[in-house]
Amino acid sequence: MSDPITPTDAGGSTRRHFIRGVAAAGASTVAANAILSAPGIADLLGDAGVAHAAEVVNPFADFSAIAASSADAFEVPAGYRAHVVIGYGDRFANTDGTQLRFGYNNDFLAFFALEGKRDEGLLFVNHEYPAPFFQHGVTTAANKTIAQIELEQESVGNSVLHVKKDAEGLWQVVSPSRYNRRITGADPVCDFTGPLKGSARVGTTSRGSLANCSGGITPWGTALSCEENFQDYARTYGWALSTATTADPTNAEYDHTTLSKYGWVVETDPYDPSWTPRKHTALGRFRHENTAFRAAAGKPFVLYMGDDKVDAGVYKFVSTRQFVAGDRANNLRILEEGKLYIAWFDHGRRTFARNGDTVPTSPASGVGFWREVTEAELEDCQERILANVGSAEFLAHHATNRPEDLEVNSDGAVFISFTNNSNVNDAHGAIRKLVENGNDPTAVGSDKQFTWADYAGGGDRGTGVPAGERGFSSCDNLCFDNHGNLWVVTDISSSSLSGSTSRKDYYEYHRNNAVFMIPRTGPNAGVAFRFANMPIESEGTGPYFTPDEETLFVNVQHPGEETPAAGGVYGNVATYTSWWPEGNKTINFNPSTPVPSLVAVTKLPTHVDDPVTPPSEERPPNVIPPLPPTPGGEQPPSRAADRTKPSLRLAAVPRTRRQAQLLRGGLPLTLQVSEPVRATIALELTVTTVSGRGRKRRSRRKLVTIGRATRQLRAGRTELTLRLTSTGKLRVRALRGRDTRAQLSVVAVDAAGNRRAIAATVKLT
Ligand code: FEO
Ligand code: CA
Ligand code: CA
Repeated sequence: MSDPITPTDAGGSTRRHFIRGVAAAGASTVAANAILSAPGIADLLGDAGVAHAAEVVNPFADFSAIAASSADAFEVPAGYRAHVVIGYGDRFANTDGTQLRFGYNNDFLAFFALEGKRDEGLLFVNHEYPAPFFQHGVTTAANKTIAQIELEQESVGNSVLHVKKDAEGLWQVVSPSRYNRRITGADPVCDFTGPLKGSARVGTTSRGSLANCSGGITPWGTALSCEENFQDYARTYGWALSTATTADPTNAEYDHTTLSKYGWVVETDPYDPSWTPRKHTALGRFRHENTAFRAAAGKPFVLYMGDDKVDAGVYKFVSTRQFVAGDRANNLRILEEGKLYIAWFDHGRRTFARNGDTVPTSPASGVGFWREVTEAELEDCQERILANVGSAEFLAHHATNRPEDLEVNSDGAVFISFTNNSNVNDAHGAIRKLVENGNDPTAVGSDKQFTWADYAGGGDRGTGVPAGERGFSSCDNLCFDNHGNLWVVTDISSSSLSGSTSRKDYYEYHRNNAVFMIPRTGPNAGVAFRFANMPIESEGTGPYFTPDEETLFVNVQHPGEETPAAGGVYGNVATYTSWWPEGNKTINFNPSTPVPSLVAVTKLPTHVDDPVTPPSEERPPNVIPPLPPTPGGEQPPSRAADRTKPSLRLAAVPRTRRQAQLLRGGLPLTLQVSEPVRATIALELTVTTVSGRGRKRRSRRKLVTIGRATRQLRAGRTELTLRLTSTGKLRVRALRGRDTRAQLSVVAVDAAGNRRAIAATVKLT
């Protein structure tokens, strides 16, 4: 293991535990966290050293996969807790008095530990693009006022949040804090570095940063944020050349047709709020999705990057300067100078006969090498390389199926998420594994070769597999956990999702976007298990584990995105397609404006892992917003083609239960269902209350819930035990052995929202 990296932040505390020892084999992002807690690097080299998911070494990855859902809710399996940390517009502050607001469409996420603390750190979050409809209601660029454009500018860029777990284990933003910061689409002025600094279209500075999609971290403790769809701002959003903006000449910076201020990788020090962000021209200008590094002491530093555009390429940067563990001043200059390469694949694109197919017509493995990108090609890599090599060569060998995230595994293999590509009928995407020859990413000359193999393909695995294992589609961001399991979020475009007017049949099985976990070894290797469901028309982005892997942070981006296209009226929330996270449109609960938000997911201690023990009132919610408490509540409207109600049977329940038994052991029951459902089970007592005296004396009978639980059931029989709530126990004790009857009700809702309810009476003696 190489020496620990111990940079010192501006405040004087060291970041010894930020990433302890980026190994000789190299590592990236979450793999860096793996090294933090690994006993030795030998354990991390090769698939043999990672978790066997069947044996489940990583407790966080031990869950029952959940069924696909079209509901307007964020859902994780029972036994986990999910809560919103912060959402668009939420206020926070720096100790210098600066008032800040969390931006729109949060995408990339990275957790930077603070020295010696497990439950406190900094979250670097970026904000990809604004939503004029939800922010101010004016969607025609030419009609916007300057104030509306400034509101949009303020809502993109980056956020640095100081976060800490509270007494209940919930992550909260610490405010004010000296770390809290916003970088917006207008401020601060960012500096350029590298070979194109000072050139005619680039210049030396830019106004802020925009189109920040995903990103990455560096082993010296900085964040890299990637400017992706920079071409939308001048005209689509009207930041340049609209009536409102032409008066201010600095707005011309947003015009990508005349200047090259955006489309770069931007480096920021999250520990220093006064730091000037730096845009590195040596990394090229294209639709940057993210970065993933390999670092070895005494070697050049390597950064892998993707160009997220149909038929665009995969890139690698190799620094001129060597990486020196612990020498922060040196390492901060590493991205200023080096060579950029584009991957040449024998078969770059995975092709299919028909859109939606899952068996490709192209090979599943092959070889490739790295072609050098010249300095003259840096400013518009895709366009200039294509012009130089010719479109036939580019399409055959450099074009790919839209590289979204890339991540480096602890053994050095690069996993690339190719999301989809309609030009070659690839609807579902695939994750490709790339291995450098000799495992040396810095090799030059004839050694610049690699092999590749498609590791996991998207698409429906059919109805014959459990509902939570039917497969991902349109993979986007990736991350590894400490045991090498691969976590994948999906990004089927909102307009193609189930329920949308232009929905595609081949995405129907998937319902909403989701988070999956793919074990890499053991009997389940390569199977995608569904871990989380996203609300309507959103995608999950930036999944990121804390170093102790007790928390997975996920951004929920663009809920309700199709509202304007669906005829939504600004200010009339009833017309919005999603009400998340305050409301849930599927069950007509609490109509609200949808808000992109950052969610924290933690696993509950195992003693409450049994989803019906203790009762749901006492368990933190695994659904956002928490389901309203009435089992007989409004019937969720179906958004899917499935109109068939699930069958539901109480296969076993005691007709009589002693009160002492009920208090001690709950109520055992067996349910039988025909398909996967979410079942809400409730036990209620009829209680008579008396008020007033004499002739004004009134008695009222009401139902009191004494036990309640919600559980995801697989098709078939499930035995479970319903425990009493603490108030339920008081109610039963108050009976003091008097006989009474309790009403048991079960409501089962399938993935399409079809509902079936049954009831039974249990005598309590
Ligand atoms: Fe912004 Fe490539 O997703
Ligand atoms: Ca993305
Ligand atoms: Ca995407």
